[in-house]
Amino acid sequence: MVDGIFDSHAHYDDKAFDPDRDTVLRSLAGAGVRRVMNVGSDMESSRSGIGLGRIYPFLWSSVGIHPASAGEATEENLSLLAELSQEPKVMAIGEIGLDYHYDDSCPREVQLLAFERQLQLARELDLPVIIHSREAANDTMALLKKYRPRGIVHCFSGSLEMAKEVLKLDMYIGFTGVLTFKNARKAVEVAAYAPADRLLLETDCPYMAPEPLRGRRCDSTMLPYTLEKLAAIKGLSPEEMASITFRNACTVYGIAD
Ligand code: NI
Repeated sequence: MVDGIFDSHAHYDDKAFDPDRDTVLRSLAGAGVRRVMNVGSDMESSRSGIGLGRIYPFLWSSVGIHPASAGEATEENLSLLAELSQEPKVMAIGEIGLDYHYDDSCPREVQLLAFERQLQLARELDLPVIIHSREAANDTMALLKKYRPRGIVHCFSGSLEMAKEVLKLDMYIGFTGVLTFKNARKAVEVAAYAPADRLLLETDCPYMAPEPLRGRRCDSTMLPYTLEKLAAIKGLSPEEMASITFRNACTVYGIAD
């Protein structure tokens, strides 16, 4: 077993964990998972993530409004986010971004405004960002180039061209269990191209369980499958890959090693 894995993107506040959240979180160290970034997706989950950070010493959190909830990004809530970001274990603004796969549930102009306002907030607060971008590469890159934030494009699903632009901005690229899927050709190509010191491992749990557990509720104990795949792509041992991605996550989030 590889010890010392950092799950750089998880949603333990999600209701999928209501029946057994504490049991799952206490089992992570036994699977070699030593640190977790719990990522906020709306006002309520941002607050819950801070609560989890108070209970579990190995868990940090981010606060932010996901494009699916972009309607929540009122000026009042943005000030509340700025306040929440002052909590000691809040290390990033996210997840924020654009999701045009779901633009019927939240119109693009609402998403664009919420994204831009949160990029401004991250700049004012000098915090890194966690970016969600799905079927919205052009608009995402235009705003990233305008604000040039530090941070991560998570669950990377873009093209190699987009990855090159993200790397030019000195941002990191996060891979989930999708990397292990049989049809993951694009993600594999990006992982092979990107330098190891720009890569992050993440579950995005409770979603995106890796093969051979695809379809099940995901948690960080499944991350070793994604780790093995990424290590194989980079020609490194799983131990080396775990240690590199652990360090990368600590660097981008500003957490001491
Ligand atoms: Ni997520």
